[in-house]
Formats: sequence, C-alpha cells, structure tokens
Amino acid sequence: MFSLFVRRDGLIDPPPIGELDAHCHILPGIDDGPSTMEGSMDIARILVEMGISRVAATPHVISDVYPNTADGIRAAVEALSAALREEGLALEVLPAAEYYAESAFLTAIRRQDVISFGPEQFVLFESPVDTTPLLLEDIIYHLRSSGYTPLLAHAERYRFLQGNPRMVDHLRELGVRFQVNHPSFSLPKTSRTGEAARWLYIRGLVDALGTDMHRATPPLQPREDTRRGLRLFRQR
Ligand SMILES: [Fe+2]
Repeated sequence: MFSLFVRRDGLIDPPPIGELDAHCHILPGIDDGPSTMEGSMDIARILVEMGISRVAATPHVISDVYPNTADGIRAAVEALSAALREEGLALEVLPAAEYYAESAFLTAIRRQDVISFGPEQFVLFESPVDTTPLLLEDIIYHLRSSGYTPLLAHAERYRFLQGNPRMVDHLRELGVRFQVNHPSFSLPKTSRTGEAARWLYIRGLVDALGTDMHRATPPLQPREDTRRGLRLFRQR
C-alpha cells in the first residue's frame, strides 16, 4: 500500500504539515534565528499562510554557543505572543527548545530545568549529525525517567540512523520519537537526508513535523543544514 505514495520521480507526496510546527527558530535574537522581532513576525506570517496555528519555539540551547535558559526562552515567547496579538495574527507560540546532546543538557534534565511541549511532554533535542553520539542513551534514559518524551530533532539527518534500521528500531524501543523537517521530503533521490525522511515516513515513524525555519524564506523550500552555530561549536 505504501507504493501509492511513490511518484514516478521516485519522491513522495509530502504529508500535510498539519496545524503544529514542532521545530522552529522563531524567537528573535537568542540563536541563529531572526535577529529582530520584525524577522520573527515575518516567519509568523509565513506559518499562518501555511495553515499552522501552533508553533513550538525551539531556539538552540548549546552551552558554549547559545546558553539559553528556560526563563529566557519563556520571556521571549511572551514578547513574541504580545506582538502577534497586537497584529491580530492567530498563532499560538509554545515555549520549547532544541537541546544539544551535551553534558550540560544532562545536568539540566537532572535539575528538571528543561522545557517540554504538548500532551506528550516532548523535549526536542539534537546530536551531532556525523558521529555516533556518546551521551545519547544517557540522555534518553534521564528524559524518560523524568516523565518526558525524547523527540529527536530532524531525525532524517543523522548518519548513524540513515540506512540503519536496527539503530532506528533500537531508539524507538528506548522510547525516542522522531521529528522530521517537512522540507526534507522534497530533497532529491540523491540526498541521503531526503531518502531517510521518506523512509521514516513510509514506515510510519514520523511523530512530529517541523519547518526548522530560521528566517522568512518561502515555505517548503528544501534547505540543507547550514546552522552556523553548530559549525562554530564543532570547530572548538
Ligand atoms: Fe533547529
């Protein structure tokens, strides 16, 4: 039945993104997203045009690069929500974060100082895309035992998961859920990221979709990973 999704060009019709954007760098001035409130509002207008009514604001939390705190993120969400109300834009902004898989994140989990969203208590986190992360299982264990649901950001991007169904199954069994970036479905067959997104979707393993938008670009434009902050981090 899944072959119904496959088009002659080998791609699939992307699933509708739905009303929730589970991964978006919409908050101004606290990571590599927009630097101003006007830039945030430009993203908000695009999301509303896409039919999205709720967005998880997920700024990076990386101790050496973007040391965002739960309180700081909540304050930024309040400021953006006020600006949205003033303009009459019907977009609910949920405080959240995109945590980097590092020891500071483990410490924050132990202190119950992380932000979750949704009824699932999702905590969005990312790890290096090109190496097998050492702290992954520790982080998953501590999130689960604190009552959170680990939500792996842009699961389609990781080398250690691409073409590795045993690792995918292993993480699922540990209780990890997968967020996929919606634009990844439109990447060509030659893209490992695109192929992994389609693989996860066809097998029913996509738990949340996001735009991972960092600035106001046309919706659904394929975007490979150009996160400046993480590149800086890796160079250290
Ligand atoms: Fe992101």
